[in-house]
Amino acid sequence: MDDQLQLHKVSTHIGAEVSGIDFSVPLKSELELALKNALSRYGVLFIRDQALEAEQLLSLAKIFGEPLPNSHPKFSSIDGYPEIAVVVNDQDNPPDINVWHTDTTFMSVPAGVCVLKCVECPSEGGDTLWSSMYAALDALSPSMLDFLSGLEAEHRLPLDNVPAELVHSIGDREILANHPVLRWIPELKRPSLFVNRVYTKRLLGLHKIESQGLLDMLFNLSESPDFQIRYRWRKNSIAIWDNRITQHFAAADYFPERRVMHRVALVGEKPILYRPH
Ligand code: SIN
Repeated sequence: MDDQLQLHKVSTHIGAEVSGIDFSVPLKSELELALKNALSRYGVLFIRDQALEAEQLLSLAKIFGEPLPNSHPKFSSIDGYPEIAVVVNDQDNPPDINVWHTDTTFMSVPAGVCVLKCVECPSEGGDTLWSSMYAALDALSPSMLDFLSGLEAEHRLPLDNVPAELVHSIGDREILANHPVLRWIPELKRPSLFVNRVYTKRLLGLHKIESQGLLDMLFNLSESPDFQIRYRWRKNSIAIWDNRITQHFAAADYFPERRVMHRVALVGEKPILYRPH
């Protein structure tokens, strides 16, 4: 096949389908650059029918950065590939990521890009939704942006629902970090809203009631259907998202059926504070 990137935008603010590329073979550097630019522009890319082996999935992920071994304290990995986490949900392990979040913001350097491949699909349901945090920020008034710029938030991994053996295995891994509320994205020279309902616990320097009220408003805004795309998985579908500028939500409507995903997270960068002036 003569590789040529074909992009099809799939919603107003976020998401594009990629076609015309065979990811089982090495890509030309121009094509890799075009994919990286597309990811920055659309926030999430979708690719169908990629029956990639572990090594090929890692090669695809490496286009966008360096894969992290054991990237999430809650997931195990496939044999011989610590960078490929397995996310299995079924009767015995009910899905629990049906809440809007950005991955690993409880770490001082959260994941930059994430790659997710569908290995086993339920017969119905199990979609993933993504929301654009550029679009959420653009919906704020200039006065609110002024107020939020310079503010930092505390992000924490909540351990209440994590089984005891996993809490133990977390050991001395990082589970708490402070990040700017408005995050500067250097290559696009624009800010993104960087708080999420799962991990962001409080705004530093505000009273509790102020912090909670403001966070609730920002969570509600960032979860608005106005900024979203909803993706229907098929076996061997792949989604790649820029974790700096998006949130996602994995629908749990397929329980108690089984859903298996392979997930690679890439090294990110320390979030940069945005100051408008
Ligand atoms: C995730 O939250 O990283 C996984 C999303 C999904 O399984 O759809």
